[in-house]
Amino acid sequence: MITIEDIRNNPNFRLMIKKAHDYLTERGYTEHGFRHVTFVSRTTARILAELGYDKRTVELGAIAGYLHDIGNMFNRKYHGISGANIIYTELRQLGMPLDEICDITMAIANHEEEIGQPISPITAALIIADKSDAHRTRVHRKNSSDIHDRVNLAILDSHVEISRNTRSITLFIDFDQSSCEIMDYFAIYLKRMEMCKAAAAHLGCEFHLLINNLELLGIAEQRQAAGQN
Ligand SMILES: [Fe+2]
Ligand SMILES: [Fe+2]
Repeated sequence: MITIEDIRNNPNFRLMIKKAHDYLTERGYTEHGFRHVTFVSRTTARILAELGYDKRTVELGAIAGYLHDIGNMFNRKYHGISGANIIYTELRQLGMPLDEICDITMAIANHEEEIGQPISPITAALIIADKSDAHRTRVHRKNSSDIHDRVNLAILDSHVEISRNTRSITLFIDFDQSSCEIMDYFAIYLKRMEMCKAAAAHLGCEFHLLINNLELLGIAEQRQAAGQN
């Protein structure tokens, strides 16, 4: 069986992750290199493991997370689909069972908000892991006026917590309001947070967003569940 370690040690994948990162750096995007894909790989696996999915599903989630942004080596536009096609070919050549390849490529092809849908547990976990990785360390241009750079620079810390008992997935963000407005966060991330909400629902969970301990998403559902509305 092909493991996440096999994938991480594969020189072809390492080269393609670097090429994708170089393309996005050239175009002025935030960091999409080994730090980002390692974070997404680990977080996807953690979400699936903590919700009780079997070991192989967790491993396939880790692989999908590690490879999810490779399509950016061609172009940002539709990079989920182009990446899925590249990875399909590579994994076929490595002899991975077709059934497993389809689970991985389906998740990769659906991780972007433009056309993606949370159509499987691996896809849903990958979406939440990817969209939760906003952080100041991803910004290349520290004095930029670009809203993506300013918002990411204002994020001092972010992490995802999963509760199997309460069926909730919570994104905690520590946001520096002295340099940026929380409204700016929503101006660029509202669609992504809505995608996380749909992804959590696919996993049978509620999605909560807390910025500086203020709950900005998930309150209405909680009240409805408690019969307060
Ligand atoms: Fe992506
Ligand atoms: Fe990504």
